[in-house]
This record gives sequence, C-alpha cells and structure tokens, in this order.
Amino acid sequence: MKRITKLNKIFYTLCLAFLLAGAAQFTVSCNNAGQPKETAAEEAPVHEETDPLARGKELYMSYCQICHGEHGDGPMAELLKLEPTDLTLIAAERGGTFPAEELRKIIDGTEEVEGHGRGDMPIWGLTFQKSENLVTHEEVKEEIGKIVIYLQSIQREAPAGTETSEEPAEGEG
Ligand code: HEC
Repeated sequence: MKRITKLNKIFYTLCLAFLLAGAAQFTVSCNNAGQPKETAAEEAPVHEETDPLARGKELYMSYCQICHGEHGDGPMAELLKLEPTDLTLIAAERGGTFPAEELRKIIDGTEEVEGHGRGDMPIWGLTFQKSENLVTHEEVKEEIGKIVIYLQSIQREAPAGTETSEEPAEGEG
C-alpha cells in the first residue's frame, strides 16, 4: 500500500510538471504569434518641455502659484505671515530693472542674498533637486533660470493708483 501511494505521488508530480511546462510553452508560442509589440506607444516623459519659457511657466504653476498667484494673491497667501510678493511687479519696484541674477539666488535660496530676509519663502534649490529628480546643482540652476525667464515675461507696469513700496517720497519743502 505504501509503495503505491508513493508512486502515485511521483506520477502526479510528473503530471503537474508536464502541465506547467506545457502551459509555459503555450504562453511563449502565443506571445510569439501575437501582434507585433507596440514599442512606438512608449511616450516621452511628460515633463520634457524643451521651450525654457513654457517650462518656466509649468514650474511656476506647480510650485509658486499657490502663494504668489497672479498678483501676490495665491490661494495660500492669506495663511502666511508675510505677504507673498507680487512677482509681476519685480521690475516696476526696482525702477524698471529686472534683476535676473539676484532672483535666481533668491529662488534657489541656498545662497545668502544681502538685504533679503528669509520669511515664508521656501528654499527651492533643495526642493527642486528632490521633487524634479535633479542630480546636480547645475541642473537645479537651469530649472530656476527657466522660472526667471518666465517671471521676466510677466512683468508689468505698476497699476495706476498703487504705489510701489520703493517709491521715494517726494517732499515739497
Ligand atoms: C509658501 C508660499 C510661497 C511659495 C510656494 C513661493 N513663495 Fe516666493 N515668497 C513668499 C513670500 C511670503 C515672500 C515675501 C517674503 C520673503 O521674501 O520671504 C516671497 C518672496 C519671493 C521673491 C522675492 C521678491 C522680491 O521682490 O524680493 C521671489 C523672487 C519669489 N518669492 C519667487 C518665488 C518663486 C519663483 C516660487 C516658486 C518656485 C515661489 N516664490 C514660491 C512665499 C512663497
């Protein structure tokens, strides 16, 4: 009796092995007979925006808009201690000059900018490195450069009636 059971076990194991092998082979041949693989369907990564201005806007919308909004009025602005700057008036507040290099440093945040206290403004250099999967600080600088290009594109005149903070007081005696 014992013997038969053992033989039975071996028999079933063999059967199973054949079945599995057969199934594997069947799958392989099916795959081979199937439609040609669609390698063309593999799309380029979504963030591969090559136009610097468009990429800068993309980044601004993802990271900055929440506080700075269109005119310093993003949805998160009221939760902050310090009012986020209206980034469309950077040039207007500096007498028409757009300080690209200074802005790069402010946004990066990893370098000290004289006279620019750190308030609620996050340090983007480090954030970008992580969330945009950038390896070197050079890459980070490049992305920040694109945001600065975008910022330059949205500069406008100070709206009539609003005084910019740096306006020198005009005394008349
Ligand atoms: C959490 C809210 C918040 C987010 C998000 C944010 N900022 Fe700011 N930002 C501020 C606040 C508040 C200030 C003003 C106070 C300060 O300088 O810290 C500021 C100031 C700045 C200034 C200085 C403007 C000046 O005239 O001195 C620049 C430039 C700037 N932000 C750019 C950006 C950019 C670019 C992004 C996106 C990558 C961004 N900010 C995202 C809150 C934010």
